[in-house]
Amino acid sequence: MIVAIDGPAGAGKSTVARLLAERLGFRYLDTGAMYRALTWLARRRGVALDRAAELALLATEHPVGFDEQGRVFIDGSDVTSSIRRPDIDKLVPVVARHPQVREVMRERQRALGSEGNVVIEGRDIGTVVAPQAQVKVYLVADEQVRAARRSTERPGIGADALATDLRLRDERDAVNMRPAADAIQIDTTDLDVGEVVARIEEIVVAQRSA
Ligand code: DC
Repeated sequence: MIVAIDGPAGAGKSTVARLLAERLGFRYLDTGAMYRALTWLARRRGVALDRAAELALLATEHPVGFDEQGRVFIDGSDVTSSIRRPDIDKLVPVVARHPQVREVMRERQRALGSEGNVVIEGRDIGTVVAPQAQVKVYLVADEQVRAARRSTERPGIGADALATDLRLRDERDAVNMRPAADAIQIDTTDLDVGEVVARIEEIVVAQRSA
């Protein structure tokens, strides 16, 4: 079974998807980490972020990998923490915007998500990567709450800067960010992680016994 969790930055996807996978005993695939890792490698190799074909080639030649603990690897480097830095936050939408890059990444995502039960988190999972997913959830939250959540993840950045940053990211991500027609939308503004996970678990259980 594939459970697709999509939604904008700060809606709670990562925390929810990771915990959900753990509770269900499913694998967890973070597709945002893959675009982040490619951005990290492009910078390291000096590949300009507007060169779609070169970036797509880089992605093909250096597939992103994950270990059992969810650590992220590219080109032999463990990039788990470096891909969460603010410079990558800013640049990754530029990389993720190129259709040629997305084609390569989506193929890899389909390969990584093809076996057994998996929770896949991203922006276009329910629409493009895995439209056949048996459960599709689209998480949303108020802008203020999303900015507050980001500030816990990125201490040291001011609240105003984070809100602006989030708005810019939304604009850049917008083309790839729409809910699948058959996705169940959950507003996480007033819910804690446990409540969101419990709701999705119910949907999964109902789907399994359908
Ligand atoms: O979820 P995140 O912040 O780690 O995602 C990083 C970037 O990658 C963000 O700009 C959105 C983009 N992304 C995407 O375009 N498609 C996905 N399936 C996952 C992430």
